[in-house]
Amino acid sequence: MNPETAAGVFTAARSEFAAWSGRLWRPLGEILAAVARPRPGERVLDACCGTGASAIPAARAVGPDGAVDAIDVAEGLLDEGRREAAALGLGNLRFTAADVLTWPHDGYDVVQSAFGVFFFPDMDAGSRRLAGLLKPGGRFAVSTWRADGMSRIVPIGRAAALPDRPELEDAPPRPNHSARVDTADKLAGWLSSIGLRDVEVREVAYVQPLHPEDAWTFYLGSSMRGFVSGLSAEALDRVRARFFDGLREAGLDTLDAGALIGVGRRP
Ligand SMILES: C[S@@+](CC[C@H](N)C(=O)[O-])C[C@H]1O[C@@H](n2cnc3c(N)ncnc32)[C@H](O)[C@@H]1O
Repeated sequence: MNPETAAGVFTAARSEFAAWSGRLWRPLGEILAAVARPRPGERVLDACCGTGASAIPAARAVGPDGAVDAIDVAEGLLDEGRREAAALGLGNLRFTAADVLTWPHDGYDVVQSAFGVFFFPDMDAGSRRLAGLLKPGGRFAVSTWRADGMSRIVPIGRAAALPDRPELEDAPPRPNHSARVDTADKLAGWLSSIGLRDVEVREVAYVQPLHPEDAWTFYLGSSMRGFVSGLSAEALDRVRARFFDGLREAGLDTLDAGALIGVGRRP
């Protein structure tokens, strides 16, 4: 997804994205930060920060002598993060609307990204660039989705949209970067391939009940929203009905948000 598309989709998704914070983004962001383990006084770059799910725990961890730069292209999500950071009195956390692939600052102790790197048009080049913003010895930590979890719902969402968005059929296939990093071995191999050392990958099992209405909120609050952007309210109702049918046919009444967290060091 190019950065302009991501900015449009995720800014429009703002309220539905936020609706899933408590059940999804926030707990998994907390876990990413727990594995990346920023220490008091460290400088952290949180790439593709959304509403700050991993940036906020990082800011708590680095304390007043540290600093966190949280970057996302979707301005709408940053507003939510800014509000929460202010309420928590986290003056060491700065949210900036930008394409993180052009972020000009470096010298970080930790660069972390929760469910972000697979949106980069070139996941390898983009991630190498981010890892290059670390000090030597600094930690690069990313979370990705485990195979056969989150990836099950997206084809159902796409199929539901197709009759009203036939052009999706002709859209050139987007490289599925997520599938390149969806097992512990693949993620470890990929982190090594972009030049990191001492790579470790941790698995997080996370399955939860999924009511169809909540699944629809998730649809509108995730990258699936791109399937329906620009559709009329009537068309959206049709997509929603087909999505519910698709979930029922697939027997999908849980959301498997199983994740992988990989960490490596810049040599
Ligand atoms: C699935 S969301 C995850 C957000 C957040 N890290 C979390 O876990 O809650 C992916 C985010 O990546 C952002 N994104 C994608 N490409 C980006 C880029 N090149 N620069 C900055 N943000 C980007 C999107 O705007 C979106 O907010």
